[in-house]
Amino acid sequence: MAAWPVTLVHGSVTLRPIAHSDARDWRRVRERNADWLRPWDATAPPGVERRPASFRSVVKRLRSNARMGTAFPFVIEIDGQFAGQVTVGNIVRGSAQFATIGYWIDQRFAGRGVMPLAVAMVIDHCFTAAGLHRIEIAIRPENSNSLRVVEKLGLHEVGYAPRFLHIDGDWRDHRIFAVTVEECEGGMVSRLSGPTAWTDR
Ligand SMILES: CC(C)(COP(=O)(O)OP(=O)(O)OC[C@H]1O[C@@H](n2cnc3c(N)ncnc32)[C@H](O)[C@@H]1OP(=O)(O)O)[C@@H](O)C(=O)NCCC(=O)NCCS
Repeated sequence: MAAWPVTLVHGSVTLRPIAHSDARDWRRVRERNADWLRPWDATAPPGVERRPASFRSVVKRLRSNARMGTAFPFVIEIDGQFAGQVTVGNIVRGSAQFATIGYWIDQRFAGRGVMPLAVAMVIDHCFTAAGLHRIEIAIRPENSNSLRVVEKLGLHEVGYAPRFLHIDGDWRDHRIFAVTVEECEGGMVSRLSGPTAWTDR
């Protein structure tokens, strides 16, 4: 399988490349979820242009990064409906073979275990077709929902980064979680079972 562009499917969850044609759904979902997403959304630090992110600028940057091989920007669809994004970014090749993952989901679909599944699907893709070695996820200490995602996936906490990213208008501390291919024998999706399993409904 090619590393990119690629579509990954598990039950009713589909991950596919973000496209310009997602504009209407993206705007509609982001508007409806503005309060849900604001505390966790990246913002422009002082000195960087401060216009609110438009879909056009977001998709242009993501697709350009994908062409350069530094990102895999997926849309999450549930039963064909636009439900959020999971993005592999900061892909570094050479002796690192490293990347980070970021994500958000429409609150209407929250609590079904979709994001743990989507992240697991993406990690499996990164460690197989894409040949990466290490994935990191950075999470604000206050973001209990996101901390549950990495807990369900069994990622190790590897550090604490003070004032790591500019989120919701200020530099925010982050807890750093990581996984390497050696820790993923059998795959991440198959690791998701028992009480934390994803519910296909
Ligand atoms: C973090 C996030 C992606 C989790 O996605 P998800 O698909 O809901 O993940 P899960 O179903 O595993 O739920 C994780 C936790 O969220 C909480 N939760 C579940 N449904 C919820 C809802 N409707 N509203 C608020 N919180 C909810 C629960 O504590 C749940 O843990 P539990 O399964 O042990 O009860 C999602 O909450 C989100 O998009 N948040 C806003 C953006 C964000 O934080 N992005 C990540 C930045 S690091």
